[in-house]
Amino acid sequence: MSEQNTPTPTSDATQTENADQRTGRDAILRIEEVTKQFGGITALDSVNLRVDSGITGLIGPNGAGKTTLFNCLTGFHKPDNGRIRLYETDITGREPPAIAQQGMVRTFQIPRELADMTVFENLLLAPMNQHGERLRGAWARGDQFVEEEQAIRERAREIATFFEIDHLLNEPAGSLSGGQRKLLEIARALLTDPDIVLLDEPLAGVNPTLEQKILSRIEDLVEDGYSFLLIEHDIDLIMDNCERVVVMHQGGVLTTGSPDDVKSDERVIEAYLGGDDV
Ligand SMILES: Nc1ncnc2c1ncn2[C@@H]1O[C@H](COP(=O)(O)OP(=O)(O)O)[C@@H](O)[C@H]1O
Ligand SMILES: [Mg+2]
Repeated sequence: MSEQNTPTPTSDATQTENADQRTGRDAILRIEEVTKQFGGITALDSVNLRVDSGITGLIGPNGAGKTTLFNCLTGFHKPDNGRIRLYETDITGREPPAIAQQGMVRTFQIPRELADMTVFENLLLAPMNQHGERLRGAWARGDQFVEEEQAIRERAREIATFFEIDHLLNEPAGSLSGGQRKLLEIARALLTDPDIVLLDEPLAGVNPTLEQKILSRIEDLVEDGYSFLLIEHDIDLIMDNCERVVVMHQGGVLTTGSPDDVKSDERVIEAYLGGDDV
């Protein structure tokens, strides 16, 4: 990514106080005793987890609770119990736009109603949705709205260039290939100016060339200070690309560690070979 395109995460958090003594890394997320039930099903069972800056992989057999954890973190589900802190801010139970404003977003598939809109319009809508209130306020003040809108347009173009979808800006989003759509989804998330982006299987159904492109873009963004929490089916891919790995099983965190630690953990091998669908 060239300098001028480099989006820089903006966080006010005093990260030094937050650093892990051993690794020197900053804790972005602290999840304590988070529980989520759906009827009689305990999807998350007292989850405790610390997520540091950089790229963290989240794996676990189907039904382990990975997506539910993402939804609880980003405000789409309210946990029944427990606390979630983003840097020093307690975000437990807050609504998605408030959490996005604090710096954490997840990606979404482009909904059907946006498929007819152009790629550029889809990009412009992302920050509008997240910062709608703020923009409406600015609109009431006059000129400032024009400036703010101009800035969003410029940034949308910049991010489209970074993801190499700038030649598609005027195409309907629905005409993109699976992989291009994934790039657009990540681009939309970045336009909300996050510190950490949660990606739920961003490489599913993506061809190997685009897969490598998405991974290398993520790596560039990590270098620029963004953090990612990445759910991925393909364990080898997680092991090869993530600095730390979290393994979930039956609604809880089975283990966390470096790819090598996790690979050799008997409990992980058992969880995957124990008859569950991976
Ligand atoms: N909205 C929901 N309503 C009822 N049960 C749900 C809902 N979302 C998830 N679950 C259940 O919670 C458990 C965890 O699911 P999920 O978080 O999707 O797992 P993963 O993403 O690891 O495959 C599963 O048993 C699933 O059926
Ligand atoms: Mg899932």
